[in-house]
Amino acid sequence: ALRRAGNVHWQHLDVDKAARSRIKGQQPKVLWFTGLSGAGKSTVANQVEKRLHAQGRHTFLLDGDNVRHGLNRDLGFTDEDRVENIRRVAEVARLMADAGLIVLVSFISPFRAERQMARERFEPGEFIEVFVDVPLEVAEARDVKGLYRKARAGQIPNFTGIDSPYEAPETPELHLRADSDSVPAMVEQVLQVLERH
Ligand code: PPS
Repeated sequence: ALRRAGNVHWQHLDVDKAARSRIKGQQPKVLWFTGLSGAGKSTVANQVEKRLHAQGRHTFLLDGDNVRHGLNRDLGFTDEDRVENIRRVAEVARLMADAGLIVLVSFISPFRAERQMARERFEPGEFIEVFVDVPLEVAEARDVKGLYRKARAGQIPNFTGIDSPYEAPETPELHLRADSDSVPAMVEQVLQVLERH
């Protein structure tokens, strides 16, 4: 259960987001990658970050598997826990955007309402939703981590695409076809969209 803190007032701070971004010579952005397990979110996000870093951009990549080892280690994969997982990561991404960073977020983030909630935490034009789209059959056939096989065998309850829903984005800023496009081609598309924003 969430407890609300009482007697807490917003503290005005003199060094603000604009000042922090100015010193970095960049506009804060959030590239929000969403898609099934095994779609290639982390692979593409990782390569995009590498390219941005090489351009001298200040970036940070928040990855589901990693954040779930630390900040969100108390959360599992029930609907309720996934909602809280995304709420926290959206808040962390917002803090990082306030710090002036280009943030890459790579989580399944299966629910439309939570992705919308995340989007609303940012300024207009700041949030770029990247749908890493792959048909379930393709993700399942690849099964890089062997999780689909386990899920089909009933060893992982609430597995996305099997017995937990994935709600595909309707109007993402970028729709990547991860079953037909190569990783380098997808990386280029992400960099172009970022450039346009
Ligand atoms: S979510 O839905 O956004 O809260 O999920 P996320 O934090 O991105 O975590 C997804 C990774 O956790 C592993 N895993 C599962 N995925 C989906 N469903 C279930 N039940 C599950 N259990 C463990 C899986 O490796 C996901 O990694 P990716 O990188 O997406 O393949």
